[in-house]
Amino acid sequence: MKTEILNALLAADFQRAGELLTAGELVAVPTETVYGLAADAGNPEAVAKIFAAKQRPRNHPLITHIGSIDQLSLWVKEIPDWVSPLADAFWPGPLTLIFERHPSVSDVITGGLPSIGVRMPDHPVLLSLLQQFDIAVAAPSANPYQKLSPTSAAQVLSGLDGKIAAVLDGGNCGVGTESTILRVGEDKAEILRSGPLSAEDLQPYLPVPVITPQSHHQAVSGNKKVHYQPNAKVVICPTPTFAATLAAEPETTGALVYSSSLQGINCRQRLILPCDHQGYRQALYASLHALDGKGVHKLLVEAPPILPSWADIWDRLSRAAAE
Ligand code: TXA
Ligand code: MG
Repeated sequence: MKTEILNALLAADFQRAGELLTAGELVAVPTETVYGLAADAGNPEAVAKIFAAKQRPRNHPLITHIGSIDQLSLWVKEIPDWVSPLADAFWPGPLTLIFERHPSVSDVITGGLPSIGVRMPDHPVLLSLLQQFDIAVAAPSANPYQKLSPTSAAQVLSGLDGKIAAVLDGGNCGVGTESTILRVGEDKAEILRSGPLSAEDLQPYLPVPVITPQSHHQAVSGNKKVHYQPNAKVVICPTPTFAATLAAEPETTGALVYSSSLQGINCRQRLILPCDHQGYRQALYASLHALDGKGVHKLLVEAPPILPSWADIWDRLSRAAAE
């Protein structure tokens, strides 16, 4: 299959993306977090193509993306009271909420689970696509299974060219890590996957305490220990010992740092990321993709700060470093 490259700024290309989706084809689309591999959520045959293209196991559930709050009732059995404060505060945005699914929802989307994950993405291109074509899309990150998520159309193509109908290029993603996944229960709200919104961000809008479970929920594929992996072997190293570790390991050809004290460090491929969590998050996957592109085999990554606002960055880097 030849993958069409569509430019979101061109009306004809935008239209083409909507037509392909409604015809049951796969289109990679920009979101504020990472690019998603979208299929019409109301068409189980279309959704099934996602698993083949990504080589993703069938029982890993997908997030359904809606373009307006009115669509929510089509996907969930009932709308709980706790939803509206969260939706008012964070939708559109990088927050996926877990609900009891509507009886009409296909098992293909939920991997057979009785629940469904839903979010309203904060990207003008995708929001208008969903609204103008009046559809919802099931969309995992647009990368082959267990690989790095893409934050640009070029990164999507590097993993999925020839396996999907099209990619709609809407520029680089502004946020950079996947959405926070939250399951709200009777007595607690659990963060099933850390993301750009932290427990502190969410707590004021919830009637129950927010917790981050230690043992991760099996149904969350992003919580497999080995995930988000670049080709390079990743080693995380604390700031104070970084320079000495690098000097002692001549086979290390890449360094990813953010502290000003390490900006001049001597390494064949050195990338310096912003030292604020938003800037760092936005650049993280693009940096790992770029270092892979340079053929880096072993990459030393400066350990991020241990702060709640960096939790998702820690999480993704630890998985990238997992054996
Ligand atoms: O930011 C994001 O969330 C991106 C963009 C494209 O929206 N999407 C994304 O999708 O990261 P994916 O498939 O790579 O990760 C979705 C995660 C998986 O770990 C999946 O297991 C979990 O959401 N998930 C989906 N439905 C669930 C459910 N009913 N219960 C528990 N976890 C669920
Ligand atoms: Mg993913």
